[in-house]
Amino acid sequence: MRAVVVERFGVVPEVREVGRPGVPVGGVVVRVQATGLCRSDWHGWQGHDSDIVLPHVPGHELAGTIAEVGDGVTGWQVGDRVTTPFICACGTCEQCLAGNHQVCPNQLQPGFNYWGSFAEYVAVPFAEVNLVRLPDELEFETAAGLGCRFATSFRAVRQVGKVVAGEDVVVFGCGGVGLSAVMIAAALDARVIAVDTNPGALELARAYGAAATVQAGPRAVEEIRELTGGGAQVTMDALGSNEIVQQALLALRPRGRHLQVGLLPAGVQLDVSRLIGQELEWLGSHGMAAHAYPEMLELVASGVLKPADLIARTISLDEVPAALDALTAGTPAGVTVIRP
Ligand SMILES: NC(=O)c1ccc[n+]([C@@H]2O[C@H](COP(=O)([O-])OP(=O)(O)OC[C@H]3O[C@@H](n4cnc5c(N)ncnc54)[C@H](O)[C@@H]3O)[C@@H](O)[C@H]2O)c1
Ligand SMILES: [Zn+2]
Ligand SMILES: [Zn+2]
Repeated sequence: MRAVVVERFGVVPEVREVGRPGVPVGGVVVRVQATGLCRSDWHGWQGHDSDIVLPHVPGHELAGTIAEVGDGVTGWQVGDRVTTPFICACGTCEQCLAGNHQVCPNQLQPGFNYWGSFAEYVAVPFAEVNLVRLPDELEFETAAGLGCRFATSFRAVRQVGKVVAGEDVVVFGCGGVGLSAVMIAAALDARVIAVDTNPGALELARAYGAAATVQAGPRAVEEIRELTGGGAQVTMDALGSNEIVQQALLALRPRGRHLQVGLLPAGVQLDVSRLIGQELEWLGSHGMAAHAYPEMLELVASGVLKPADLIARTISLDEVPAALDALTAGTPAGVTVIRP
């Protein structure tokens, strides 16, 4: 099969023929029909993830059809249209039994722990726990985003942040995660303020329901505090940066909640005394379990959420190396989807 192969961290990968993945016991092999380009793929390529062993195939935000079913898997057949949370949970540990698959200590992530979906085929382990059946009317391009960024934002905003109507929600960084969060929070009737360096991303944020936009920079906190009359109830770091963490801390109202979704560089410091004095909550959010997908899929089916609108461009496998490389300089506005 053809795949994007990383031979060395930070060196532009190449597309070449490699062996097809074998089908794991209890797992399946999926023919990848669409796979999103997420900044986590860039982090992995840069060498920020210690799980990655070279040579490596990235890609974790995927949708496709089952090509092969492993021993011990019931309920799934060749040809079924599926996606999977990028966090493939074991289903049997203490956390999984409590429903917290997104923090399963035995989790395997395609494109990090093993070869991922920037390829024609990808394996999905623990299939009965992780596979999500796609409605026929949901396009593969749209469904790919449900494997990582859209679902991650859904959980962060709805389940972890518990955003309710009328709250001010500030989304720092309006790429795939951030624009998803804007759309989801706006659908919950929150008042969304979108922050980004890229005016094109801010324009999209407005189109997806942001009530106001703020140009990222040193004046952002002041503007947010003015717009919210003293600070927001909820902030979200949808980029992963020390600057945003510090700004979010100052942009929150007393008793506010911060959602940390963007992956941070080492050494970020937090003024914990401000957390105490203002009774702030600092909340990590990681993916979303497969069992939580039905509520999101229903909102997509009923048209309340429109993840298809977030897709700005579709590219081929051959265009991935350049697209990954371009992420070093910045993010083009809107979501990029790959059709292998
Ligand atoms: N926690 C999780 O489960 C999870 C899941 C998916 C992605 N992630 C992480 O979330 C982050 C976002 O991923 P993505 O694919 O949406 O990224 P992206 O590259 O698509 O988007 C980042 C956005 O931030 C903007 N930006 C850059 N500098 C900025 C600044 N100083 N202030 C405000 N905005 C700025 C960019 O213009 C871009 O629009 C990454 O760190 C990714 O690894 C985490
Ligand atoms: Zn991702
Ligand atoms: Zn588990």
